[in-house]
Amino acid sequence: MHFTTLLIEPPGTDSQLINLMLAPEKFHVKTAECGPAAWNLILENDPPDLVIIDTDLPLAGNVRIGAAQLLDLMSERLRWRNAPKLMLTSDDSAAIFQQSNKKSVCAAILKPYDPRRFIHEVYCCIRKQLDAHIKEVNRQHIELGTEIKSVAKLYNQNAIKGRLKEILNSLERHFEFEEEFMLQHYYPDLKAHQKGHRRLFDNAKELIDELCRSDQVITGAKIDQIIDNVFDGVDDDKKYIAFLYDLLESLTSHITTGNTAVCAGN
Ligand SMILES: [Fe+2]
Ligand SMILES: [Fe+2]
Repeated sequence: MHFTTLLIEPPGTDSQLINLMLAPEKFHVKTAECGPAAWNLILENDPPDLVIIDTDLPLAGNVRIGAAQLLDLMSERLRWRNAPKLMLTSDDSAAIFQQSNKKSVCAAILKPYDPRRFIHEVYCCIRKQLDAHIKEVNRQHIELGTEIKSVAKLYNQNAIKGRLKEILNSLERHFEFEEEFMLQHYYPDLKAHQKGHRRLFDNAKELIDELCRSDQVITGAKIDQIIDNVFDGVDDDKKYIAFLYDLLESLTSHITTGNTAVCAGN
């Protein structure tokens, strides 16, 4: 599994050093060498697992887009808002560290910094991100389960049909959410998991479409059939979640063995 990083850093020794430090740790690093380049990259791409941003960005032509503006842009964009940010700065003024209080800035490191401290903070940020993903997957599973089971309590046939269609939409969004993360991180069983999702979704859609078209009463047995179908994919998800927890564990052990300090906020 790989993690993606956007490094916003002018060309030079710092940039080379960071690339050198991150490569053996299986991070894919994309670099933006100035504010405008980072600006375009943020507008045109999905967020990475971690943004590393140097506050000392140079002028690009006559244009200066600084770290504060980039942080504002990211916070305005739904998908970038929660991507963790690690700031590197040679400015120890309060203003810089106020920026670092923004919710998704997980650490601010004063330059010159100890490379071990840098790697430690990178791992802390990634671990937080992974932990948030696991919590979100679990939350969606509980929500889906609750939604499906609530159908059995409804009596009005139109209400049942409406709820079944909503469940189908939630299921599709949930599968997209899982697959996007798997794809971005090279989950080894992605293909098999995707295949399971397709089979499960097609079966659920066929059942629900048929029920919604028909004038027959939707019985408890029919609803149970949908529930059984949706929970048929539970083994694939158990495997995925076990994989994520293993990964979280390996990040945690890397942090605790590489450095005894505890991540901020944990
Ligand atoms: Fe799932
Ligand atoms: Fe799944």
